Amino acid sequence: MKRLYNAMQLKKLYTLKSLGVNFIKPLKEFEKDELPLPNDLNALRKIVNNCHLCELSKTRKHVVFGEGNPNATLMFVGEGPGASEDEQGRPFVGRAGMLLTKMIENVLLIKRSKVYIANIVKCRPPNNRTPLPTEALTCRPYLFKQIEIIKPKIIVALGSTAYHYLTNDTKPISKVRGSIIDMKEFKLIPTYHPSFLLRNPSAKKEAYVDMLLVKKLLGS
Ligand code: URA
Repeated sequence: MKRLYNAMQLKKLYTLKSLGVNFIKPLKEFEKDELPLPNDLNALRKIVNNCHLCELSKTRKHVVFGEGNPNATLMFVGEGPGASEDEQGRPFVGRAGMLLTKMIENVLLIKRSKVYIANIVKCRPPNNRTPLPTEALTCRPYLFKQIEIIKPKIIVALGSTAYHYLTNDTKPISKVRGSIIDMKEFKLIPTYHPSFLLRNPSAKKEAYVDMLLVKKLLGS
């Protein structure tokens, strides 16, 4: 939250400077922790669609806010949009998305539209590189707010970037996949990212086992 708040304050200060303002009184302490993100998904989407707090906003075609059931019990979190997602403004619609959809519909036996799908960063990193920490940490409050609004019982972290920024833990995904992490508000199940599975089909067995665990936790 702090980083997004600081970035927003900095942007305001630059605007004021460009208008000739050279001095403003320091902010009161209590204001510092308050980042007024709305408790409504559509209002939040509007803010995110207009976000210019990091460099990724300069190269994106579309913001990829996330999509699905706003009352979902189950949420999937990926890393960030790729080329197809950037074109369409929707998460997981490329090759990795097709695999994710199969995992949801053929293993969990639920419609993709019944879950919620989002990413750590909402704008495509150039050449699909991993988001930089400053980009991920600036964008993360939007994801945390989505989680707070949707209140899923289970979140599946797709790959190490999602796992890392949801937990602040740096263990490799191969070590934590298939475990159930109690995050108080929800249970987190880390698994491999679908793009990794496309490159390493032999790991699909483990991802399948992880999905069976999710299915069991859902009670379905
Ligand atoms: N990879 C991700 O991490 N997210 C998407 O939305 C698509 C591909």
